Amino acid sequence: MADMKQQQHKKKAEWQPATWRAQPAAQQPEYPNARALQRVRTLIQTYPPLVVAGEIERLRGHLAEAGAGRTFILQGGNCAEQFADCTATAIMNQLKILLQMSVILTHGARKPVVRIGRLAGQYAKPRSNAFELVRGVRLPSYRGDIVNGSAATRAARTPDPARLRLAYHYAAMTLNYIHSLIDGGFADLHYPYTWNLHSIEQTPEWPEYKQTVEEILNAIRFMESFGGIRPETLGRIDFYTSHEGLVLEYEEALTRYDAARGRWYNHGAHMLWIGNRTRALDGAHVEYFRGIANPIGVKIDASCGADELLALLDRLNPKNEAGRIMLITRCGVDKVAATVPRLARAVRAARRQVTWCCDPMHGNTITLADGRKTRGFSDVLEELRATHAAHVRSQSHLAGVHFELTGDDVTECTGGAVDVTRDDLRLRYQSACDPRLNYVQSLEMAFLIARLLRGA
Ligand code: PEP
Ligand code: CO
Repeated sequence: MADMKQQQHKKKAEWQPATWRAQPAAQQPEYPNARALQRVRTLIQTYPPLVVAGEIERLRGHLAEAGAGRTFILQGGNCAEQFADCTATAIMNQLKILLQMSVILTHGARKPVVRIGRLAGQYAKPRSNAFELVRGVRLPSYRGDIVNGSAATRAARTPDPARLRLAYHYAAMTLNYIHSLIDGGFADLHYPYTWNLHSIEQTPEWPEYKQTVEEILNAIRFMESFGGIRPETLGRIDFYTSHEGLVLEYEEALTRYDAARGRWYNHGAHMLWIGNRTRALDGAHVEYFRGIANPIGVKIDASCGADELLALLDRLNPKNEAGRIMLITRCGVDKVAATVPRLARAVRAARRQVTWCCDPMHGNTITLADGRKTRGFSDVLEELRATHAAHVRSQSHLAGVHFELTGDDVTECTGGAVDVTRDDLRLRYQSACDPRLNYVQSLEMAFLIARLLRGA
């Protein structure tokens, strides 16, 4: 018996980038051509890292700080990136809205903000059904550009391994432009007006944003008058990338051993998360994730039991390291009260190190009669408020937020100060997947979160 236990333990301990293959893998594409897949995987394994270990470790430090309440995390981007979205304007707008929100949050919460884009790799989507019926024809579902095409033809929907390679290239292009923008001074706090998107002056948020910016500029000038200039004010900011680690062929191919550090890293993003549908304890995703040293997120909804969560934490973070695990609750506004205190107390009682975040988007999705998915601004805000309050009551701490948002003027979520009505959804609904907060809704949300964090 003891022998068997020991053997089992040994088996668990022997992790390799490919050990996930022995476990049931949910949500994976079925590639018709195994040789083509093998060729692409071998090729990607030779590609240079998109991110390096030093940056990944730095983010881990920031997440530990956030877990302890010293910094706040802003994570956001598209539900699904599409290869066609890899344009200068789309990338710049996404960076701008995240920077503007982070300025508002830093100012409001009086804490540094860690910015994590949901980009440069967010190309895969979990699906409820592997197939769908289109005009009587049964086709594989669209699983994101990294897997297949969205057009309703058999050719487009057949998983194509060449798309794994394309995903790497698009991620590299996206990341390169973001780095260049930041290196070129785009994030310099002396020029926050250059981040104006469209005509921010005409939005209801403009006076408050302007006042925030003026106060920040005054503070910077004051500091500079004493000769103290922090790198942040000159735009040398950290910006991190993340995506759902869903398609394990891609993630495995980007996993390398760092001999100097003695750890395995996924070099495709600084942080990856396990989706709510793929977090089975003995599933392939948990097996893959337990072996990489990157900070990892786990999405959890109301169905997650406390024991289940503690078992996941044991598996994913056996040494109980701070900054390693971000737990992202996404309950839906009505289920927060029955979920967050229960889980937060269990984690606290077991003295597990976690960084709690809230994704107020995915539990609040509704499907309208015309098949369009939407989310109400007030539900999103209420889920955040309720989650924050639940953590306070549980002597726990909400360390960050996770949004699906865009810097563009889309009409996908309803509500907000510039009220988007259900009728308006027809106007500019552009998401390939879930509905995103638009530019003005995102700014408004940042001000409201800043108020919440100040206790106002
Ligand atoms: C997502 O983040 O787009 C997603 C599918 O979320 P979840 O795993 O929480 O459902
Ligand atoms: Co989504």
